Amino acid sequence: MVALYAFRALLAFATVSSTVAQQLTGTYDYVIVGGGPAGFVLAEKLSQNPSKRVVLLEAGPDGINNSLVNTPAYYPLLTEYKWNYTSQPDPNLGGNAPDLKQGRAFGGGSAVNGMAYCRGARSVFNEWATISGNPGLAWNSLLEDFKATSHYEFQPADYEQYVNLSASGNGPLEVSRTSAYTGFDVPFISTLKAGLGVEEVDMLDGTGIGLDLGIAAINAGERTRSYARNAFGSLIETRRNAQMIPNAWVTKVGFRGKKATSVSYVNTLNGKKTTLAAKEVIVTAGAVNTPQLLMLSGVGPKSKLTELGIPVVADIPAVGTNLYDHPVAVVMLEVTPEVKTVWQWAFNETEKVIAEQQYAANRSGPLGWNNGFVYAATRVPDAVFAGVNATHYTSLPADRPHIIWEYTTVPFKQVTNTSLVTAWVSLVQAEDPGYVTIPSKDYKDDPLIFSNYYGSPADKKAIIWAYKKMREMMASEEMQSVVVQEAYPGSNVPNTDEEVWKAIQNASFSFHHPLGTAALGKVLDSDWRVKGLQGIRVVGAAAFPGPPSCHPMADVYAIAHRAARDIQAADH
Ligand SMILES: Cc1cc2nc3c(=O)[nH]c(=O)nc-3n(C[C@H](O)[C@H](O)[C@H](O)COP(=O)(O)OP(=O)(O)OC[C@H]3O[C@@H](n4cnc5c(N)ncnc54)[C@H](O)[C@@H]3O)c2cc1C
Ligand SMILES: *[C@@H]1O[C@H](CO)[C@@H](O)[C@H](O)[C@H]1NC(C)=O
Ligand SMILES: *[C@@H]1O[C@H](CO)[C@@H](O)[C@H](O)[C@H]1NC(C)=O
Ligand SMILES: *[C@@H]1O[C@H](CO)[C@@H](O)[C@H](O)[C@H]1NC(C)=O
Ligand SMILES: *[C@@H]1O[C@H](CO)[C@@H](O)[C@H](O)[C@H]1NC(C)=O
Ligand SMILES: *[C@@H]1O[C@H](CO)[C@@H](O)[C@H](O)[C@H]1NC(C)=O
Ligand SMILES: *[C@@H]1O[C@H](CO)[C@@H](O)[C@H](O)[C@H]1NC(C)=O
Ligand SMILES: *[C@@H]1O[C@H](CO)[C@@H](O)[C@H](O)[C@H]1NC(C)=O
Ligand SMILES: *[C@@H]1O[C@H](CO)[C@@H](O)[C@H](O)[C@H]1NC(C)=O
Repeated sequence: MVALYAFRALLAFATVSSTVAQQLTGTYDYVIVGGGPAGFVLAEKLSQNPSKRVVLLEAGPDGINNSLVNTPAYYPLLTEYKWNYTSQPDPNLGGNAPDLKQGRAFGGGSAVNGMAYCRGARSVFNEWATISGNPGLAWNSLLEDFKATSHYEFQPADYEQYVNLSASGNGPLEVSRTSAYTGFDVPFISTLKAGLGVEEVDMLDGTGIGLDLGIAAINAGERTRSYARNAFGSLIETRRNAQMIPNAWVTKVGFRGKKATSVSYVNTLNGKKTTLAAKEVIVTAGAVNTPQLLMLSGVGPKSKLTELGIPVVADIPAVGTNLYDHPVAVVMLEVTPEVKTVWQWAFNETEKVIAEQQYAANRSGPLGWNNGFVYAATRVPDAVFAGVNATHYTSLPADRPHIIWEYTTVPFKQVTNTSLVTAWVSLVQAEDPGYVTIPSKDYKDDPLIFSNYYGSPADKKAIIWAYKKMREMMASEEMQSVVVQEAYPGSNVPNTDEEVWKAIQNASFSFHHPLGTAALGKVLDSDWRVKGLQGIRVVGAAAFPGPPSCHPMADVYAIAHRAARDIQAADH
């Protein structure tokens, strides 16, 4: 398997030189802005036609050879390759400001993320089809795109896992289960099953509710990250009609009247400015940077643009609104030495050396894992919402979970210098959105992010209930085999609504799943075009109409593949 990996790297090396030599001249059929999962899938699919010239521009570098990227467990140690964004102080969190770092490299979020691959509830996609007016987004159609972008590979391991193979395809991204449990999984799984009344399911086949033992974008056997750069970029590299350019920070989309005609970027290594002529611009810059670039280019709320001195191309007040995320509230648990946590292999010299040897010898041990990945997705019982308007929650389709229950061996809050596990609850179908805007017309200024976590009374009820329930479950008899004590908020903190709310306010984080800020139906028409404009489309997490029911990366790959098919059909 290691030999196969080396062979693939050689293959990529042999072909790369033919593309870099090309000149950046003439008009491109497609200029794609942002090299995350959406950008890479579009560039790959659209360049399959040799008569179309395609260029993919990415602000960050190419980390293809970086072992911090390629070794799955190292993702929490990766500080480079990110836009270091922090939200504005959130009044709902007593002024705490959640970190909202975003991927900034070839691969975007898929280069730096936790690799969780989940598709979630059918009804999400059926709703997106209705909202957008694009029937291709309905689950039964989109399943083809999920299959065309990924394939499942069996990973030998000494535990059983249910996988529905009829939902698996033959696309470039490789997904697999973990090669071994961390030591925390067995009691966690049975505690969630008993406490939440869930059964094991496969959340890749359209199922929204249940318990999933986890599938991640990791090459089976090799135990290396599979992501947009290596899965799709290796195909793009072989084509003479396609180029992918790192270190290219796009500052503006240029318009002639209402038609986008060019893209300007700065080379971040030497400061050189370039403008490319484009027949079609596709913005795939993620949920934070997409509205930023649109606004810098004169597309957004007129009053804001005017205030900042940006000439208005199109007055679209919805740009930057509809920001949804999956906020998580964490309970920190001190665990027994048998649990293989990040703290152990990162800080204990003995454990560190063992882990490195295991990975080098035969890809065994914790470095080939994504630090523990088992989760459940469930509803909040209706009765919990007594006293508040719960129409949003109670009227969601029955396959739609409200809460994800998950754990990781990454310490989100290092409250003590001991081996910790983070157990969390996440609001995955929040009612009240936040928004993104910009502070000035300078592209170098960070966008302003207003997270608005738990913004409605029902959102707050839901997270408090879930947090209390998680604490109860983690304090159960069965968990005592692995849990030494609750390190945060701490067993001295009573499990009452008031005390728990204070604890939540100080321990809420982003799942790093922002989306919806240039949404289909609001900002985009059914064919991914910015309404009222020509030659400019948006694809990726920014285009999601609302939050999916679990980790969004799989959905980004699939909708980008669907968008590429739609664009090919429209341009035919
Ligand atoms: C730390 C972290 C952990 C995550 N964990 C998971 C997980 O385990 N599972 C999961 O499903 N999802 C996870 N996600 C979310 C997932 O990675 C994103 O939903 C997904 O990557 C979004 O894809 P995208 O292509 O729309 O945008 P992105 O992946 O954000 O890509 C956008 C790209 O555009 C580039 N760009 C932005 N502005 C410009 C500009 N002006 N010029 C040029 N380039 C620009 C960015 O640098 C970036 O590379 C995580 C995200 C992060 C950040
Ligand atoms: C990655 O490594 C290969 C082989 O050594 C090399 O040819 C290539 O230039 C490297 N790529 C980057 C982006 O560093
Ligand atoms: C974010 O911070 C890291 C660590 O300090 C740094 O390496 C990286 O360059 C920063 N990102 C940006 C875009 O400045
Ligand atoms: C397996 O997945 C397919 C595709 O989503 C679905 O039609 C089928 O019902 C699933 N099977 C089971 C047993 O859930
Ligand atoms: C480090 O790990 C070794 C091997 O598991 C263990 O014996 C030792 O107690 C650990 N050291 C500390 C300081 O936890
Ligand atoms: C993998 O390597 C480790 C460390 O060298 C060793 O202990 C283990 O037995 C090996 N496992 C297999 C299946 O070869
Ligand atoms: C309750 O919330 C829904 C939206 O979910 C809204 O349409 C409705 O007007 C609200 N009802 C009241 C009485 O406020
Ligand atoms: C934390 O514990 C580890 C292992 O016991 C030790 O090496 C390290 O110095 C400690 N760090 C601090 C800040 O006390
Ligand atoms: C929350 O954090 C604030 C500021 O750091 C602190 O004063 C307060 O005691 C904390 N509350 C809880 C419940 O942790």
